Amino acid sequence: MTSSSRPLVAVTGGAGFIGSHTVDLLIARGCRVVVLDDFSTGKRANLARWADSGRFGLAGAEPSLDVLTVDVSHGVFAALAPVTAAYGAIERIVHLAAQVSVVHSIANPLTDLRVNYGGTLQVLEYARATGVKKVVFASSAAVYGDVTAFPVDEDVACHPLSPYGAHKLASEHALHYYSAVHGVQTTALRFFNVYGPRQDPSSPYSGVISIFADRAAGGRELTIFGDGEQSRDFVYVGDVVRAVVGAALGDGADRASINVGTGTEITVKELAQTIVDVTGGTSTIRHAEARPGEILRSVARVERAERLLGFRAETRLRDGLAATLQGA
Ligand SMILES: NC(=O)c1ccc[n+]([C@@H]2O[C@H](COP(=O)([O-])OP(=O)(O)OC[C@H]3O[C@@H](n4cnc5c(N)ncnc54)[C@H](O)[C@@H]3O)[C@@H](O)[C@H]2O)c1
Repeated sequence: MTSSSRPLVAVTGGAGFIGSHTVDLLIARGCRVVVLDDFSTGKRANLARWADSGRFGLAGAEPSLDVLTVDVSHGVFAALAPVTAAYGAIERIVHLAAQVSVVHSIANPLTDLRVNYGGTLQVLEYARATGVKKVVFASSAAVYGDVTAFPVDEDVACHPLSPYGAHKLASEHALHYYSAVHGVQTTALRFFNVYGPRQDPSSPYSGVISIFADRAAGGRELTIFGDGEQSRDFVYVGDVVRAVVGAALGDGADRASINVGTGTEITVKELAQTIVDVTGGTSTIRHAEARPGEILRSVARVERAERLLGFRAETRLRDGLAATLQGA
């Protein structure tokens, strides 16, 4: 076994949009990272900047990244065994791997159960059995359902409106009892609408920003469903991963569920206009029929993140959009 003072962190879903930015920041903070991903939506290109760092111990003085192709819902013990035999125990896990589509979860609830709740249990079982110090989980504002009081407080009653939201909430409960019963420190981060470079605009389930940014960059028309007065809390991925990495490497916020948003409400109409402005104003905006069931408002209360993680989103929408359009 090679010894290193650099923490060994596993990132499930590390080839995805938020995952690959998480990997970048962990490596920048001096960690060695093992990515576990089945590449269902993640891409090797998202980790390409670390390709030369090779597998641990095989290239360079102290390589930073190892990538394992694995479906986490089938378990992670076998995949991680050779890595830990060679390089020591996994100290911390960031669990981001998920079936990420709400629409898909409604059509395929049992697949969502297996991947999203089952995947979390597999990760927690590994953490319990091997003495992982901390597990940070990507939860979602989808756990709340249709709330009426804003900004949304973490302690409001959760009534998710999809299998995706229900399985994120069930995963949070599992995190809680693995901490209470097994002593694994856990933190659930409830992401609001995350945007930034590497978000895939070609996915039908992609966030509105990546779709608008992609169309506006090509001078094409932007379509708003309904009057555009529906609002969201759009949080830049560079901010989100500061919260993720802070929670993963720190030892506080055990058993907590914490909103990760900006606390600022932006309407889809304002968003479309800002994107058109940032891209030089050639795209037109049209309205189409409202989509049934769409949640009308969403904005996070952010005090808990400040108190427990010392985290506050800093990127202004205009700057985040410019970075998204530029790509990185
Ligand atoms: N993007 C957002 O606005 C948002 C909001 C709330 C929560 N989240 C959560 O954040 C996490 C990351 O989402 P993202 O936006 O980066 O999406 P993404 O699709 O880019 O990332 C998900 C990653 O997980 C991998 N994956 C999927 N199923 C897997 C499995 N069974 N085994 C191993 N790997 C698997 C995919 O290949 C991909 O790399 C997810 O848990 C998602 O539910 C995202």
